[in-house]
This record gives sequence, structure tokens and C-alpha cells, in this order.
Amino acid sequence: MQVTRAELKSQSVAPVANVAPKIGIGYKPSISVIGLGYVGAVSMACLAHLGFRMVGVDVSQEKVNAIKEGRSPIVEDRLGELLSEGARVGKIDATQNLVAAVLDTDVTFMSVGTPTAPDGSCDLTYVRQASRAIGQAIGMKTGFHVVVLRCSVPPGTTLDVVAPEIERASGKKAGLDFGIAFNPEFLREGVAVADFYAPPKTVIGASDVRTEEIVSRIYGAVDDKIQFTTIAAAEMVKYVDNVWHATKVAFGNEVGRLCKSLDIDSHAVMNIFVTDTKLNLSPYYLKPGFAFGGSCLPKEVRAVAHLAETQNVDLPLIQSLGRTNQRHIEEAARLLAEIGGERIGFLGVTFKPATDDLRESPTLELMSMVEAKGLPIKVYDPNLRFNDNLKGQIAYVRHSCPSQARVMDRIEEICVPSIDALMSECDVIVVSHATEEFRQAVRNRRADIRVLDLARLFKELPVDDATYQGIAW
Ligand SMILES: NC(=O)c1ccc[n+]([C@@H]2O[C@H](COP(=O)([O-])OP(=O)(O)OC[C@H]3O[C@@H](n4cnc5c(N)ncnc54)[C@H](O)[C@@H]3O)[C@@H](O)[C@H]2O)c1
Repeated sequence: MQVTRAELKSQSVAPVANVAPKIGIGYKPSISVIGLGYVGAVSMACLAHLGFRMVGVDVSQEKVNAIKEGRSPIVEDRLGELLSEGARVGKIDATQNLVAAVLDTDVTFMSVGTPTAPDGSCDLTYVRQASRAIGQAIGMKTGFHVVVLRCSVPPGTTLDVVAPEIERASGKKAGLDFGIAFNPEFLREGVAVADFYAPPKTVIGASDVRTEEIVSRIYGAVDDKIQFTTIAAAEMVKYVDNVWHATKVAFGNEVGRLCKSLDIDSHAVMNIFVTDTKLNLSPYYLKPGFAFGGSCLPKEVRAVAHLAETQNVDLPLIQSLGRTNQRHIEEAARLLAEIGGERIGFLGVTFKPATDDLRESPTLELMSMVEAKGLPIKVYDPNLRFNDNLKGQIAYVRHSCPSQARVMDRIEEICVPSIDALMSECDVIVVSHATEEFRQAVRNRRADIRVLDLARLFKELPVDDATYQGIAW
């Protein structure tokens, strides 16, 4: 059975019919590791300690000699001791001959460098070189070989660069004649050995079930909650992790610069900040959805940006938050224009579900953009009350967001009393609250109604539904 590249991309695993014999309990494949730097040397030592026979490969004779002799080529806690033990019990060998190492093993981990190219992109020169040599070896092998990319690379690299290079050099097919997987590395230098045995997570994206099983067996001893996903998602996880960590560092440092200018001890502030694991250090606010809004976030972000300005402190991250939020609302408007439609209905207009607060709701901004194009809009929100509180909010919005004044003035007029009324009057529905009521309404909608989902109504996205569009999924 042929497995197409598209199938490999879209599934977390693409089961391959003719290569799925059950792997025996206690199965310990021999593993070659290409690239004996910080990642490769640690994998060699830690996996050898778990009983795997390891063959390391590097272009550097010096690194090969060090590993072979059980010495650490880098400064890393406990690495020397584990390498020495591995070499002594015959679990560790190393060579400059990549082809021989692949021929001699069942699985190949690739951990060569992926530096920054002059244009800022990720330089895949070493990845390509190593892939070609792996391909030569696989071309000569009769058994099923698994290649695991462990380098940090742009999404698509495993299937669009590594797999084709190996296929060309070997004449064999990824996901069929050999397995390919992406398994990101999350170690922190300095505590890499400890991280290997207690990883923050283990993520595997594989071309086929057999490969998935082989790679997960290797990690079974250190992680019993392996997360399986598509190869591209696994590649992206690593990039997102590192960008997030960098964002945290930059954020903390911006807070520090601002605090210092105000003669406040930044550590006194952040020590309290990190104790909040409900809203601050938690999954909250991290899932893609619609723009932030409400009576607090936009106002406070503006105030802090302004405070920094008056203190002559440059805070590019915090000062760009308003712009990135506005960009997200514009993206919703762009998607709506792409979807088309003549009568646009909004399911939910308050800044989040379960409140009647309209202040700085990003949906109001989007409605204003749509209305400015001359398209009629309608809205249904079960929490809207036409009372004095709303009148106060209209005055508030008129003052803080003049662009939304017209929509606010007409809010009573454009509101309809039920979802059915909205559905009957509109051909496109924009959903900004992920409530059960709205989820059911979207599920049961007329076939000709198109949907722009700003709130991620469904965990599993509708398949083959051209009438459904998400803002960031
Ligand atoms: N260092 C980290 O903490 C860390 C953590 C997670 C992921 N990563 C990623 O892992 C990958 C490796 O990182 P590193 O820090 O170990 O790199 P490194 O530069 O320390 O080691 C890479 C090694 O690959 C060797 N090499 C290059 N081309 C080769 C080839 N064709 N054949 C054999 N050996 C070859 C180099 O000589 C070098 O020893 C990178 O993609 C990196 O982004 C690194």
C-alpha cells in the first residue's frame, strides 16, 4: 500500500499495512546518533545507561575519539560518568563513518546542528548532508530502519527535506520501506542528563504505526505519558516552546526595567506574580482564539505602555501588545471578506461569555469594520440587557473607542431576540463565544450558512467542511 506525502502530513500516524509486526516486550533496538554535540552526546550516554547499544557519528575526529573512550566532549553534569560507564560495558561506540553506523543499527537519531543562515532562516545544510548519507545506507539495508529527526527545524522539514533526501539516495519510500519520525529534544544544557531521565514531556510524530511504536518503546522507561501528534505539529511544538521561553525572559526583563525606573524591586513583584498558578502560570490565555478585550486588559496595557514612555523606558514587547491585538481583529475582518456573504450575523458580542460587559469587546471593533464596508449586521447575545448599565457602557465606548460609536449607538436596533432569528436573517455567522448554545446552533445550521469561528467551538475540527473557517486553526 502506497502512503502519499499528504497522508503522512495529515495524520498523527499513517498505518502501513505490510510493515506492522508486533514488537516484542523488552525489544531494545540498537541506535546510531548522528551529531555528537550537546544533544547527541547526552542521548548516547543516557540511552546506553538504559541498556541500548549506541553508535555515535560525528565529522569531528576529536568528538568521536572522546565518545569512544568514554570521555565527555562537552561540559555537562554527569555526562562523563555515564559515557565512561557505557564505553566500559561495551554499549557505546563511535565512528566518523555514518553509512557504516546506520548499517550497524536499527534506529538512527539525527542531532546535527541547525544554525541560522545569513538570511535569518534555519540552515539545513548539515541535515541534508546527513540525510543523504543515511539514505545511502538505507538503500543497502534489507531490514526496516527508523530515522528520528531530533534537530530543531522549521515545520515541514522532516517530510519535505529529510524524507525526500533519504528516498532519493535509497530508492525507498518513507512510511513504507523505512520509518521516519520527529521527536523534539527539550533538554536544558547544564541539567541535560537530569532532564533526559525526567523530561518535561516526550513528543513523537511518526510516519507509521511501527515507527511510532519503536520510538515510543525507546522512551518508555523515562516517560509513560508520551504525546503523539503529526510530524509537523511535533516540529512546531519545539519552536513554540523556545519562542515562549524567550517571551517569558523578555517579559520578565521588561517588567524589571520598568520596576527599576520606578524604584520598585522587580523580584518582589515577580515573586508574587509566579505564585498565581491559576491565571499567570497556567494554560489560561494561551489557546489561540479572538483578540483580548474588556474593561481591564486593553486599558492596563495602554497605561503600562504610557508609563514606560514617561519613564523613558523602552519596552518593545509590552508596547507592541495593542498592535498585535489590533492585527488579530483585522485578520478576522480579512477572513470575513474572503468568506464573502452579504448579511453578517454575530453570535456573542460581549467581550467574553457569561458577562453583559461590552466595554472594549473586540467583536464590536470587528462589527464596526464590517459595517464600515456597508454590510448589514445583526447580533444575538443572551447576556445583553438594554438597561442603564448598557447606556453607561455606550458612553464609555464612545469615549474610549470612537470607531465603535456608530455600532454602539445602534446596538438595540441590530440585536435580534434569538439564534433562529439571526440564522434566518444572515448568510455568514461569526461566533465569538464558545458556549454550548452556540456550538449546537453552528452544528445544526442551514447548509448554506458559512461560519467564522473566533472561539474554537470544536476540539476536533469539522472535516471537509468548506463552510467553516477558524481564525487561527
Ligand atoms: N543544545 C541544546 O540545548 C539543544 C536543545 C534542544 C534541541 N537542540 C537542537 O538539536 C540540534 C543539535 O544541537 P547541538 O547543540 O547538539 O549542536 P552541536 O553543534 O553541539 O552539535 C552538532 C554536531 O553535529 C555534527 N555534525 C554536523 N554535520 C554532521 C554530519 N553530516 N555527520 C555527522 N556529524 C555532523 C557537528 O560536528 C557537531 O558535533 C540542533 O538542531 C539544536 O537546535 C539543541
